[in-house]
Formats: sequence, structure tokens, C-alpha cells
Amino acid sequence: MSYNNIICKIDNRINTILINRPNKLNALNIETFSEIDHAINDSKNNPDVRLIVITGIGTKAFAAGADIKEFIDFSEEEAFDLSSKVNNILTQTIENSPLPIIAAINGYALGGGLEIAMACHLRIASDNAKMGLPEVSLGLIPGYGGTQRLPQLVGKGKAFDMIMTGKMIDADEALISGLINYKTSQEELLTFTKQISDKILLNSSNSIKHVVTCINANYKDCLNGYEVETNQFSKCFQSKEFIEGTQAFIKKRKPNFN
Ligand code: COA
Repeated sequence: MSYNNIICKIDNRINTILINRPNKLNALNIETFSEIDHAINDSKNNPDVRLIVITGIGTKAFAAGADIKEFIDFSEEEAFDLSSKVNNILTQTIENSPLPIIAAINGYALGGGLEIAMACHLRIASDNAKMGLPEVSLGLIPGYGGTQRLPQLVGKGKAFDMIMTGKMIDADEALISGLINYKTSQEELLTFTKQISDKILLNSSNSIKHVVTCINANYKDCLNGYEVETNQFSKCFQSKEFIEGTQAFIKKRKPNFN
């Protein structure tokens, strides 16, 4: 399928989704949200894809937020509809994806841009990245999960500081505070992201799918994460990948999960 706002490049089992609105600093309009959602769902059904990277085109922005010009005239109902669609569809699609999803943050990741990145399983940022949730400066609040996922990643106190001041933080501060997993240079961002992706791809995709379910369980209402873990752990024992992984260990060879 061809898209208007994103480009998908599938190579070596990795689908790299590039947000492609450079003149708008990759600001996320509604069509872009649904295209990203579509591309992820498409990847889940594509046997050639085992991992997804989301990044922005160019060197300036991952995504400078939701497209402010698009929602400037929204009514309360339209705003409710927008937030619930992005919250219930796209960010859940990302967070619960059985395929690992890495955000390669190549510049500004603000507002909705950072919220998309925070829904990803890992975040790798370039040294020119700037991250923040500046919605209060617009008379808004984060509406795509930012008030929930930021405290999960950086702790409640830091999240209050970032959201109440609306400040942007750089990659060093993001690394120290746990907002990102790795920092690298702008030039090496995609190469480094591929190195991390390749490490993940050596492992059992079936196990990774169960890990996503278990780690996310802790953040869902009324779910006992330990019970979810016990269930998912036991399910691994029926898999071909469990046989391959354990046999490889016994026979002192590397497992082949492809
Ligand atoms: N929504 C819509 N358009 C956006 C945008 C957004 N979130 N962020 C940037 N743009 C557009 C600008 O309007 C401008 O378009 P124009 O040339 O048609 O006027 C273009 O992208 C370039 O942005 P500009 O502001 O000129 O770049 P800059 O380098 O001077 O500043 C930022 C960069 C990121 C500091 C600034 O663009 C900004 O503050 N953006 C909004 C961030 C934000 O509040 N995000 C949360 C939204 S809920």
C-alpha cells in the first residue's frame, strides 16, 4: 500500500517506518497516525518482518508533536474522539505489538511525537534530539498517553517537572532519567539501531511476544502481572522455539530461530 505521510522500507526483516512530513517537522496529523497504525498491522501479517523501527525523515525532527493546525478548531467532542482514537488504537497497537518496535529519535520528539516514541518498546536518540511534552504551553495537556507513560519511564517527580514546565530535555538528560535506552550520534543513529535490532532478532520471536504481554500487564488495571507471567512462561513450553533454544544449549551450538 502507498502512504501519503510515511515511507516504509523493509530490509533484513526490519520494517523502518519513516514519518515523512519534513516541511511540518513531521508533525502528526490524523492521517499520519492511521498510516502508522496500518503499517504496523501490515507488518504483523508479513512473514518478512520481525521488527519495526519508527523514525522521522531528515535530521531535524522525529515528530514535533500532533499537527496543531489540524485540531485548532476542534470541539470538545472532536478532541475526545481524537484522543481516544490515538490512545485506544495507535499507541496500544505499538505498545502491544508482538513485533518489537524501536523509536529512533532523530531530532525533536515533542508532544504526540514523544508520546508515540514512549509507546515503543525501546528508544534510541541521536545527540541532537530534544524531547518534551510542551502541551501546557498551548493551553492543553498531553492527550496520547503522555501523562501515563512518562511517569512510568522517568518517575512521577520528573514527569511533573517535564509536563508542568513544558521544557525540552536533551539526549544526555533523557538517558540519565530513563526516557531513552541509548544515545548515539546523528550519523550513526540508524546503524546503531540496526545493531540493537540484530541482537533482538537473534532471540526467539515467540519469547519476545510473551515478554511484551508480561511487561505490559503490570500497567493494566486489575491484572496480576505475576499470574500473566506464569501463563506466558508455560505457553513457551509448547513452542518449536523452546525446543530449538534448549537443544542448541545442550548441543553447545547457537540457536537458529529463523
Ligand atoms: N504542528 C503543526 N505544524 C508544526 C508543528 C506542529 N506540532 N511543529 C512545527 N510545525 C511547522 C511550523 O508551523 C512550520 O511550518 P510553516 O513553515 O508552514 O510555518 C514548520 O513546521 C517548521 O517549524 P518552525 O517552528 O518554523 O521550526 P523551528 O526550528 O523554528 O522550531 C520547534 C522548531 C519544534 C521548536 C517549533 O516548531 C515548535 O515549537 N513546534 C511545536 C511543538 C509543540 O508544541 N508540539 C506539541 C503539539 S501538541
